[in-house]
Order: sequence, then structure tokens, then C-alpha cells
Amino acid sequence: MRFSSTDTYIATEDLMVAVNASVTLERPLLIKGEPGTGKTVLAHEIAASLKLPLLTWHIKSTTRAQHGLYEYDAVSRLRDSQLGDAKVKDIGNYIRKGRLWEAFESAPGRTVLLIDEIDKADIEFPNDLLLELDRMEFYVYETGVTIRAKNRPIVIITSNNEKELPDAFLRRCFFHYIRFPDRETMERIVAVHFPDVKKLLVREALNVFFELREIQGLKKRPSTSELLDWIKLLVADDLPIEALRAKDVKTALPPLYGALLKNEQDVHMLERLAFLSRREGR
Ligand SMILES: Nc1ncnc2c1ncn2[C@@H]1O[C@H](COP(=O)(O)OP(=O)(O)OP(=O)(O)O)[C@@H](O)[C@H]1O
Ligand SMILES: [Mg+2]
Repeated sequence: MRFSSTDTYIATEDLMVAVNASVTLERPLLIKGEPGTGKTVLAHEIAASLKLPLLTWHIKSTTRAQHGLYEYDAVSRLRDSQLGDAKVKDIGNYIRKGRLWEAFESAPGRTVLLIDEIDKADIEFPNDLLLELDRMEFYVYETGVTIRAKNRPIVIITSNNEKELPDAFLRRCFFHYIRFPDRETMERIVAVHFPDVKKLLVREALNVFFELREIQGLKKRPSTSELLDWIKLLVADDLPIEALRAKDVKTALPPLYGALLKNEQDVHMLERLAFLSRREGR
């Protein structure tokens, strides 16, 4: 079974090649790309298209590698021992499995494990996972047991580039950068989300969107998820196409621009551009 576009996700040729290569090589797939370009959703789509279960490990600034393996619940054990509970005799009762352990145990088939936003964690985090991701095994000190993957999970790791990842970690991954979709790909992405929207509206909306992205000096350029939100609003408001047509973003702010522009500096910049171009046009 190979990964390809689905009726909810558009995968470009190079993305398909990367996913299938990492599955074949049994190496984690490291996915980077602008925010909102479908990195997280990709793991869901891979799981769905390969018909495998998905486990998600969402990384935060406080996440440590050990959390993905297991945690020892010493507090519960202490409480149980004070209450004279017989459970305390078996320390295994207080070992809480992490996402990686769950993925290692999956049977009968493989699991897709999404390690989402790895760059949010401490710089040591990726290094601390090297051995586990390489050998797909780890040792539980409390019980003296080695946990080995019954089936190597398909590991998808996403990063927004907030931190550099260490070389030793990179060496173990297959890397893919999701390039920002070109116009034709974007049309297909919009079509899978809004199959019934008028072609003309999509065309005008994409004109405005790509023009906006080209403006130099924007702090946060809108991406796929912003475009999808915007189109949803345009449709919900049943806006006439004339409201978009021939509306150069340099002469007026697009309608419902709050879905596209996410900070006041960018809104001010566009207002200034509009003011200048109106003055020149006079
Ligand atoms: N190629 C695509 N095909 C279909 N939908 C897409 C595609 N790329 C992005 N989307 C849509 O864009 C939205 C954002 O996707 P997602 O949350 O996966 O982005 P992300 O790259 O993980 O963003 P972030 O870096 O902010 O976490 C989703 O609604 C998703 O369905
Ligand atoms: Mg994401």
C-alpha cells in the first residue's frame, strides 16, 4: 500500500515520494514547512490511506523524551502504601506508558506515530530520543524490562523551525520540506475542502490571496489554513464576486481580511499602501 492524495488531502508528487521513501527505509519522516501547510494533517492522512491507527504525541516546551517512553507514578505508589494496598508489591502497577511505548506495542500491524511540533521542546529532546527511534527499544529501570517494538511504527515528525535540530538527529530522519503550494495545487486543495464553491469565486479569491502573499515586508504571510478560513467566510456571507474582483489589495483591504492578516502591523501596512495608491491615482 502506497501513500497518495486522498479525497481530503492533496499530496504533491515530491511529498508522496518522501512519505513512501521513509516508510520503505523505516526512518522517521521529518516534515517542515510554513505554518498551516498541512504538516499535522499529513500524518492523519498517511494513517487513513495506509489504514493504520494513529497515535499523536503533541510536544510542548515542558515535554521531555522520557514522557514518550514511560513515567513512574511514585505519588500513587506512596499513597497506596500508606493505605496498605496490596498493589504496591508490583511496581509495574505504577508505570504509565508513553506514546512511544504504545506505538511499540501495537499489534497486529504497524502504527503511525505523529510527534507534532518537535521544535517546541528543549534542545536536548531530539538527542534524547535518538536511540529509541533508531533501535526502537528502551529499558524500564524500575522493572528491569526491555521494551522492543513488535512492529516498527511509521514515525512522522513535524517542525516549524523554531529551533535548529541537532545533526545526529537529522541523520536518522528522512527530510521533506512542504513548499508553499503553487496556484494550481492550491486550487485543488480548495476544491477538496469546498467542492461546491463557484469556480469564479475561487479564482478571484486566489488572485487576492497570492497578491497579498507577494507584498514585501508582511510580518505574517497568510497560508493555506488562512485561505481556507477566508473562503469559508466568503461563502457563508454570500459575498458578491464583485466585492473581490478587480480589488487590487494595494488599493483596498480585502473583505473579511481578519481571516488573512493576523497582526496590526500588516493591516496598517496595507492601509498605508491603499492610501498612497489612492493619492497617486487622483
Ligand atoms: N495539501 C493539503 N490538502 C488538503 N488540505 C490541506 C493541505 N494543506 C493544508 N491543508 C489544510 O490546511 C489546514 C492546516 O493544516 P495543518 O494544521 O496540518 O497545518 P500545519 O502545517 O500543521 O500548521 P502548523 O505549523 O501551524 O501546526 C487544515 O485544515 C488542512 O486540512
Ligand atoms: Mg501542525
